[in-house]
Amino acid sequence: MATHETPILFMDRTRVRDNYRELKKALPPFRVAYAIKSNSHPEIIEILKKEGAHFETASIAEIEKLLALGVSAGEIILSNPVKAPEAIRRALEHGVTIQSFDSVEELEKFKPYAQSSTALTHRIRPQLRIVVPNEGSMWPLSGKFGADEELWPAIFEYMKTHEIPLDGITFHPGSQCETIAGWDSALYLTWRCIEISREYGLNPTTINIGGGLPVDLGRKIPTAAQVGKVVLRHLKEWERKGFKPADLIVEPGRFISGSAGVLASRVVGVARREKTWAFLDCGVFTGMMETIDGITYPMLFSGTGEKERVMLCGPSCDSVDKMYEAKIPHPKPGDVILFLSAGAYTSVYASDFNGFLGPRIVFLDEIKDPKDLLFLI
Ligand SMILES: Cc1ncc(COP(=O)(O)O)c(C=O)c1O
Repeated sequence: MATHETPILFMDRTRVRDNYRELKKALPPFRVAYAIKSNSHPEIIEILKKEGAHFETASIAEIEKLLALGVSAGEIILSNPVKAPEAIRRALEHGVTIQSFDSVEELEKFKPYAQSSTALTHRIRPQLRIVVPNEGSMWPLSGKFGADEELWPAIFEYMKTHEIPLDGITFHPGSQCETIAGWDSALYLTWRCIEISREYGLNPTTINIGGGLPVDLGRKIPTAAQVGKVVLRHLKEWERKGFKPADLIVEPGRFISGSAGVLASRVVGVARREKTWAFLDCGVFTGMMETIDGITYPMLFSGTGEKERVMLCGPSCDSVDKMYEAKIPHPKPGDVILFLSAGAYTSVYASDFNGFLGPRIVFLDEIKDPKDLLFLI
């Protein structure tokens, strides 16, 4: 035991590749643009680049990281709907043309780059991010982002007046979306948006269905094939109505990196008060940020013995650093806890708050049985 210092995020290269292939198979006409925000380790980018993946970004730093790794600008999408003017311009100078917006205010920033007279070589391809219900999502992304139906007329009027072409429409069903209905309702709304935009003489040709595909967190989830079936059914319906998108994009993050990662942590201390508290070497500031809003992970334990209800918390001195309650074998310092399906939105969220470091990433070729990892650490 104890050959590696925890926390460690074990990543399975084969699983990253297989996840990409599974989604490509489920959505053959789509460009699969990996959302690097979920886990931006260069090796993951490298694996996916070799597979032919494209990439979704939120910032110039992410774009420049990809360019430095040899990804070409045409394979990068900037899907953050609100950006600094400088970010819009620099992305375009690099050749990243597909950029999202969800307000007239953002369109005002796009205006100089949207008309045929733009001073830059690359003309922007504006993608309207619409609000969709996010039903069944464990990590909803509506509210902060997206234009709802009431805003569409003002947006389209502005585009028509200023001769800004509407390249495409995008949505995000919410991350860890655990019901097919999430995509179904989003695609009905997308069609409505297409129809309304056409009334303003606009002609969207790119459809970007965002991310949201779930990983196994211990509940029933749809497979990529099931999501694909619903999406392709809508596309067929649209085609019957005379609309065939020229460019189709899906932006998975969690689906690609999540199930490929197992986060190993240790119990550093136990306190028995009104309830039992187990203090781990990973917590809200060291990779487990999503637990504050309801994400829980399937777990494996080195400890044996009777199970008890325990509040799992992180090592820092901040009381926000509480994860969730779970029934686990009677904890004691040194016990190892493995969090499964934890490859996404963990290492990337980690800070060094209080001097506690987030998980180091260790790549393995295949994690056939996560239980084996208990013997590695
Ligand atoms: C615009 C956009 N696309 C894709 C993703 C990836 O989502 P997921 O990890 O649920 O697949 C996100 C996540 O926040 C996002 O904001």
